[in-house]
Amino acid sequence: MKKLIIGNWKMNGNIDLLENFVNAEGMDDVVISLPNILIGAVPHGFSGFKIGAQDCSVYSGYGAHTGEVSAEMLKELGVSHVILGHSERRSAGESKEQVLQKLKNVVNNNMIAILCVDENYESLLDNETVDFITKYSDNVFLAYEPLSAIGTGVVPTVDEISDVASNIKAKYGDIRVLYGGSVKSSNSSEILSIQNIDGVLIGGSSLKLEELKKINYNA
Ligand code: PGA
Repeated sequence: MKKLIIGNWKMNGNIDLLENFVNAEGMDDVVISLPNILIGAVPHGFSGFKIGAQDCSVYSGYGAHTGEVSAEMLKELGVSHVILGHSERRSAGESKEQVLQKLKNVVNNNMIAILCVDENYESLLDNETVDFITKYSDNVFLAYEPLSAIGTGVVPTVDEISDVASNIKAKYGDIRVLYGGSVKSSNSSEILSIQNIDGVLIGGSSLKLEELKKINYNA
């Protein structure tokens, strides 16, 4: 099965960059998680890359929650994948309880949740979260992103990545596991060839179209 390639633009990108990606060929299987304002700028009926989001509200539906964007609103704009619990959000104060509520909102709207965990995944995945992700494993991927690898260029060895993925699968059932942290075209084929890794979550390199195409080619 082809492995999942998902980009995370974080708080980057503008209309010009979006336009380049919208016009690119051969990106149909790649997910690009855009800032919400750029999700709204994707042309109506667009069918190139898959549209991802980087977060959603703990609130569901519509209503009086100034500044919030619900899973329903993302779904309506064609979003298929939502990153949740990224370490940059958790370190800014997002709690496990909030992440679990968001996870429920995403899955209830038939989207795929990309639930980020770092090397402390056992403490981030409390019993309630584990029950939920094992029940809805078709709609949830775990993204293993060691803190030391995010944005640093320092990537664990293939054996280290593979061992963590095996431990996660042994502990939480046959959940799909992505690796994230400093993935680029020069290391992606090695990482994507790890048997128990089901894809990659890419930050910085996902802003470079040619780089992302090369990574996708290796998947
Ligand atoms: P990076 O970011 O690829 O720039 O290291 C990964 C991430 O934070 O998801």
